[in-house]
Amino acid sequence: MKTNFPKDFLWGGATAANQIEGAWNQDGKGPSTADMMRFRDPKSLKELNNVHANTDITDEMIAEALASTDENSYPKRHGIDYYHHYKEDIALFAEMGFKVYRFSIAWSRIFPKGDEVEPNEMGLKFYEDVIDECLAHSIEPIITLSHYEPPLYFCQEYNGWYNRKAIGFFMNYVQSVVSRYKGKVKYWLTFNEIDSILRHPFMTGGLIESRFPKEEFENVMYQAMHHQFVASAKAVGLIHQIAPAAKVGCMTTKLTYYPFSCKPEDVLATQQKMRQVYAFCDIQVFGEYPAFLKAKFKNNNIQIDMTEEDARILKAHPVDFVSFSYYQTSCVAADATGLALTAGNTTIGIKNPHLPASEWGWQIDPSGLRLSLVDLYDRYRKPLMIVENGLGAKDTVLPDGTIDDQYRIDYIKAHINAMYQAITQDGVELMGYTAWGPIDLLSNSTSQMSKRYGFIYVDLDDYGKGTYQRSKKKSFYWYQEVIATNGASALEKIEPVKVTV
Ligand code: BG6
Repeated sequence: MKTNFPKDFLWGGATAANQIEGAWNQDGKGPSTADMMRFRDPKSLKELNNVHANTDITDEMIAEALASTDENSYPKRHGIDYYHHYKEDIALFAEMGFKVYRFSIAWSRIFPKGDEVEPNEMGLKFYEDVIDECLAHSIEPIITLSHYEPPLYFCQEYNGWYNRKAIGFFMNYVQSVVSRYKGKVKYWLTFNEIDSILRHPFMTGGLIESRFPKEEFENVMYQAMHHQFVASAKAVGLIHQIAPAAKVGCMTTKLTYYPFSCKPEDVLATQQKMRQVYAFCDIQVFGEYPAFLKAKFKNNNIQIDMTEEDARILKAHPVDFVSFSYYQTSCVAADATGLALTAGNTTIGIKNPHLPASEWGWQIDPSGLRLSLVDLYDRYRKPLMIVENGLGAKDTVLPDGTIDDQYRIDYIKAHINAMYQAITQDGVELMGYTAWGPIDLLSNSTSQMSKRYGFIYVDLDDYGKGTYQRSKKKSFYWYQEVIATNGASALEKIEPVKVTV
């Protein structure tokens, strides 16, 4: 029997400012870390996997980037020109029936350098217009305060989030946007994938790695992350104070790993890996560092400057809900010798022989989503929201102009079924689902345009060629029906999980 999702389920899509907006130096916006990301056409899976190296940057590279006006070599500078197309794009989201639209505010549009006292009015006005446009279409905005784009000056001058002053600068930004948009925005997320600072320290934390002694850099990253945790908790407190009806969530990369075999050492290695995954969310939900991190710091001589006041703040302001991205799973083994590796979401893992993968090597695993939902809910007992999920794939425009992206439909459909099972069979409280990149956008990890996630096609290639024209893919109409039927049109018969001895 077909049924559907909970009433008021929040269906929608999600984007990030630096991957869509363009207009990187217009209306007072300052350059951000994202604007320094040079396009390198990856030739192999190995090159794709090396996200840390691909996103690492030196002062010399920054100087070279700043001297260049070439937007095609630095594609996040042009994005999909959403800055000038947002009305058209939001109208298309509304046509699909979106209940919510998750997007981020570029900090450097509001505070171009990061350390100013007064905000840039043109930046505030832009997002106000975006919010009003959403509300005019009955779409509820979900705003991410920080999605990989600290202002460049803040990174160069202060060493980004490594500097404790970052907390004050960020809070000034939060104060400005929350007081301006209060009453219009109900859902806020603090830091997108706060854990990602360990994988791409420049993009997330504004850390220019070459400035620090190599052996101290892990400590530097954890210190910067600690400052983000304190800022995140303070932001939760401030949002609750300014807008008491608002709900604030943390956002984590839900990496899910399976033991490659049932050898106890593989299972133990997987448990270690998963404790690392949960550690960051633990801090934002429970308000204190978990045993895993404390032990890691002790054993690796990592010393974090953490004041008593920091500890009080973390404890005082836990998040209201837990949001996460989910794309893929991979495996862990105590000894990976001879095992095939594959790329994941800015990670490398052991290939699971039972799973298919995208062209970028990300292994497709809807059951892994159900598993993740159950684990997160059992651990945190807070409402969950899936704020990113989707398939990055190459699309072909057929001679009649249509795009038959059945592979994307299949991927999302399977994940919707997994969500539904987690809600109905496992008792998980899931607030909503925002598909990643409902309109094609630039890839975070590779800056490629050809890695497309959208229901809406954007005519633009990896080298900046194209008209920027938007068109509807087959998945557009499919997702429209999913939302119109509150999920029912995507649902398949539920088979109970088989457990045999
Ligand atoms: C998430 C990020 O980790 O993965 C997004 O929050 C990103 O910004 C998404 O775009 C997909 O990754 P990619 O590298 O395919 O763009």
